[in-house]
Amino acid sequence: MAVQPNTQTQVPSRHRFHGLCPFFAMFPETFVEKWISRVTSEADTVLDPFCGRGTAPFQAILMGRDSVACDINPVAYCITRAKTNPPSQSAVRRRLTLLEKGFDAAAWESCRRRLPRFFHLAYTPGTLRQILCLRSQLHWRSSDTDCMIAALCLGALHGESQKSASYLSNQMPRTISTKPAYSIRFWQKHGYKAPERDVFDLLRRRLDYRYESPLPAKRADVHLDDMRNLPHHLRKRQTPIRCVITSPPYLDVTSFEEDQWLRLWFLGSESRPTYGRISRDDRHERREAYWGFIMDMWRMLGQILAPASDIILRIGGKGFNPDEIVTGLYGTTLIARRHVELIDQEVSFIQRRQTDSFRPGSRGCRFEVDCHFKMR
Ligand SMILES: C[S@@+](CC[C@H](N)C(=O)[O-])C[C@H]1O[C@@H](n2cnc3c(N)ncnc32)[C@H](O)[C@@H]1O
Repeated sequence: MAVQPNTQTQVPSRHRFHGLCPFFAMFPETFVEKWISRVTSEADTVLDPFCGRGTAPFQAILMGRDSVACDINPVAYCITRAKTNPPSQSAVRRRLTLLEKGFDAAAWESCRRRLPRFFHLAYTPGTLRQILCLRSQLHWRSSDTDCMIAALCLGALHGESQKSASYLSNQMPRTISTKPAYSIRFWQKHGYKAPERDVFDLLRRRLDYRYESPLPAKRADVHLDDMRNLPHHLRKRQTPIRCVITSPPYLDVTSFEEDQWLRLWFLGSESRPTYGRISRDDRHERREAYWGFIMDMWRMLGQILAPASDIILRIGGKGFNPDEIVTGLYGTTLIARRHVELIDQEVSFIQRRQTDSFRPGSRGCRFEVDCHFKMR
């Protein structure tokens, strides 16, 4: 008798961790994969000092490289660390069961009532009490298991719940958290109501889905800090770093702190958007300040990279033209006090921007430039 292939156990072609939690202004894994194949060998370490959702370090460890990542934003750190230092599926399940057993809805009621109006329209009372419990109980900075649960929560916290049952909030984009006043007006205009969701059930479903891909064999070294402090973190590192694949914040395009305010709240920040508390480099509006920040990046890279390193940078910006970006990037390399060559550059025009889905017609970044530098 012919044996039918078991489609249940097939490994998904795209690793399920890539989509653990979306982020704004992210690059695709195909970009990272292309450059890792082109400029590194298995013995190399890949660094991303602005790692966002962690695509570069995660793809690097999937391809057998070592990896170092850094981001100043706790949301980026939590997602990147969860992907690149994952606990076993059974450890996450056990912890979820423990958290659920310890959950006492009544204990979270007064805390729920004190939250601003946005939260009462975004979530049903039952869902919000469970979110509050997890927000207070998860030790995401010190435990890999809790970090994975927190990252699963971040991925579920808001999204297009009119179309999908895998989000906890009233209808919102999944990439960014829209601001409270805008969200309330939007829900009222469309008559949208928060969906009834059991957070623990939803997290278990998300966990099973993400863990259908095998865990990476390696772990990455992830830092929650300003990239300017990386030389201090890497002081005792034995293996040299020869490859950087990264995308710094673009000129005057977006503030990651504002865009991720609801996820930041879940990780312990305030219950409203904040500005300039986490990073003063998210959204430089003036060119001089922006290039000053890029100089700080070159200074840091000059201190930590091995001879003959490859540096791949993807950058865009509002009001910039591609030549200005390349000239600015190359001009600022002087500060690294190393010989830096521009090997190649490529401009790509952005067809479908993430903002088009919730800010149609907005002026913004229309192209990106990829530059390949060699630092001798
Ligand atoms: C364009 S995004 C990177 C996106 C990433 N490539 C991805 O695919 O998700 C830029 C990142 O730089 C981070 N950032 C801003 N200022 C920083 C700083 N001074 N040091 C380190 N990271 C910073 C932001 O939090 C944001 O995650």
